[in-house]
Amino acid sequence: MSPQRLRRREAPRLYHALRDSFHGDLVDGASARGGLETLGALGKTRFIAFVAASIDGRISLSEKTVPRWTSKEDWRFFQHSLARMEAVVVGRNTYAAVAGRLRKRNTFVLSNGPKTMVRRGSVTFLNPAKVALTPLLAKYKSVAVLGGGAVYRFMLESELLDEMFVTLEPLIFGRGKEMFVGGTRTTRVTLLSIKRLNRAGTLLLHYQINRWRP
Ligand SMILES: NC(=O)c1ccc[n+]([C@@H]2O[C@H](COP(=O)([O-])OP(=O)(O)OC[C@H]3O[C@@H](n4cnc5c(N)ncnc54)[C@H](OP(=O)(O)O)[C@@H]3O)[C@@H](O)[C@H]2O)c1
Repeated sequence: MSPQRLRRREAPRLYHALRDSFHGDLVDGASARGGLETLGALGKTRFIAFVAASIDGRISLSEKTVPRWTSKEDWRFFQHSLARMEAVVVGRNTYAAVAGRLRKRNTFVLSNGPKTMVRRGSVTFLNPAKVALTPLLAKYKSVAVLGGGAVYRFMLESELLDEMFVTLEPLIFGRGKEMFVGGTRTTRVTLLSIKRLNRAGTLLLHYQINRWRP
């Protein structure tokens, strides 16, 4: 069966698995773990982006700083989710900002720099124009796509994005880094769940990317 047809058949099961898993307390480890294990059992890699954004869709005010404007509730959700992912894909700038936290994970850092793949412990540096990313990630059941904007765009355009968790913090930046740097094609998504994380109004949105039906 072609990958696209397989995906089409799996989609309803995935929706329900995700809904069941994340509808309750989103910072509850057991429920998040259950969801990701269910997806893994379906036997293919799931690519899941985690994004924190202002309500005008910006992910950062400056290039090199770790976001400090995100809520502690989002941080807890993110950490619990990340602990259950098998690998991480990240851009060189974002890696530079959070290297200490990613060094012990199976981390794939995208950069135009390396001519070949460079491994340092569990961290792999590669240029996806020269080294195919998909076969490297095929052995993982769940891959977290952590940005920044150039990587979200690359993964979406390479059809390596199945889901997105977008945390909308109640802020208007009015400037700053776009979620998809340089813009991308219009893509239809399906809302799987929405949760208000705190009294300030932080919203956690969970989307399925409808890759096969733009
Ligand atoms: N709010 C959030 O959820 C969130 C998430 C992640 C990051 N951020 C923030 O966003 C900012 C960084 O964003 P960014 O867009 O500048 O950085 P980025 O995507 O982390 O890094 C950009 C760099 O990654 C490499 N790269 C990305 N895609 C590539 C591709 N397809 N092929 C080859 N190389 C590729 C290039 O490195 P080379 O220059 O080496 O070629 C590029 O210059 C930071 O402030 C960070 O804190 C926010």
